[in-house]
Amino acid sequence: MNILVAGGAGYIGSHTCVALLEAGHSVIVADNLCNSKAEAIDKIKQITGKTDKEVLFYEIDVTDKQKVYEVFLNHSIDGVIHFAGLKAVGESVEKPLMYYYNNLMSTMVLSEACLKFNIAKFVFSSSATVYGENEVPFVETMNLLPTTNPYGETKAMSERILTDIVKANSNFAVTLLRYFNPVGAHKSGLIGESPNGIPNNLMPYVTQVAKGKLKKLKIFGNDYATVDGTGVRDYIHVCDLAEGHVSALNKLSEGINIYNLGTGQGTSVLQLVKAFEEANNIEVSYEIVERRAGDIAECYANASKAEQELGWTAKRGIVEMCKDAWKFEKNY
Ligand code: NAD
Ligand code: WQD
Repeated sequence: MNILVAGGAGYIGSHTCVALLEAGHSVIVADNLCNSKAEAIDKIKQITGKTDKEVLFYEIDVTDKQKVYEVFLNHSIDGVIHFAGLKAVGESVEKPLMYYYNNLMSTMVLSEACLKFNIAKFVFSSSATVYGENEVPFVETMNLLPTTNPYGETKAMSERILTDIVKANSNFAVTLLRYFNPVGAHKSGLIGESPNGIPNNLMPYVTQVAKGKLKKLKIFGNDYATVDGTGVRDYIHVCDLAEGHVSALNKLSEGINIYNLGTGQGTSVLQLVKAFEEANNIEVSYEIVERRAGDIAECYANASKAEQELGWTAKRGIVEMCKDAWKFEKNY
């Protein structure tokens, strides 16, 4: 299939392009590079040995309807994967309009283009954040609870927009993939997560402390009702996540389909730090500080639906996630 990958130069998008190409598909990346670099496209080609024939790149903003329609007019597209969102929770609180505009307009423009050009397959990057403070493990059948920030709300609203479009268009097929905590990098060390400025997320913070770029990890609270008091999350290797998209595309059926992409395994902050130190034989200094506002104690998936219906399950464990994240950071 020929897949339009909106946001394909970014962290998860670039790994998914690799997985798609390795599975024999070709990709058209549409990205405005607001949080990525064009080199990612060269790296995708380098890893897969593919050329401009299978990997096309358009530097466009996917909220720009005219530019998006030009791409759809010029290519025969079989499906769309929509990664093109802004994702920093704190920034979304400071600049809500920017988040609502970018994340909702991109969903609306891309889905409208699909309807106009009769493209039935649409895969959307959602997030475990839509579950709110539900009881763990999070399962797809749960009622969603309120989100705690504008970023999370854009994911919940995009899910509702796409669900309504499917209700009104019986031959449109949408899969909502709810990611848990993606970490790690491709084993080549060529692509990975490189956040701008000081990282908000745990793994890039850990790798930068290990490298000496940052002094000390601040662990946000050790008084949660968890195994050791620190927050528990379902970390998933980004390559497993990428492969989940290929499975989702292959099995995309009419209507709205929802899958958790997680491992089903919870890991605490202290457990992750220890695993990182052991896997890479390097020390990560840390201190315990106050809880971070908006954090929940535990978040992990019930991952059975994706296994049963997509035949997909995460294969890589915490040690591999820590090794690959470190390899990328050292190379970067
Ligand atoms: P990322 O920032 O690395 O990738 C997003 C890409 O989209 C970037 O290359 C950016 O330049 C591009 N982009 C953003 N707005 C655009 C626009 N209007 N037009 C064109 N390109 C645009 O982020 P990521 O971690 O790869 O996340 C991909 C998607 O997955 C996002 O929608 C994010 O919200 C979602 N998600 C991420 C996580 C996570 O922890 N990384 C978890 C759950 C869901
Ligand atoms: C993980 C754990 C922190 C940093 C966020 C978004 C979510 C999704 C994934 C996009 C928590 C602790 C972290 C640090 C720490 N993104 N921590 N010190 O908050 O689970 O999820 O990214 O959809 O929507 O909210 O991920 O990596 O920030 O935190 O102690 O410097 O690490 O408290 O327990 P989170 P995270």
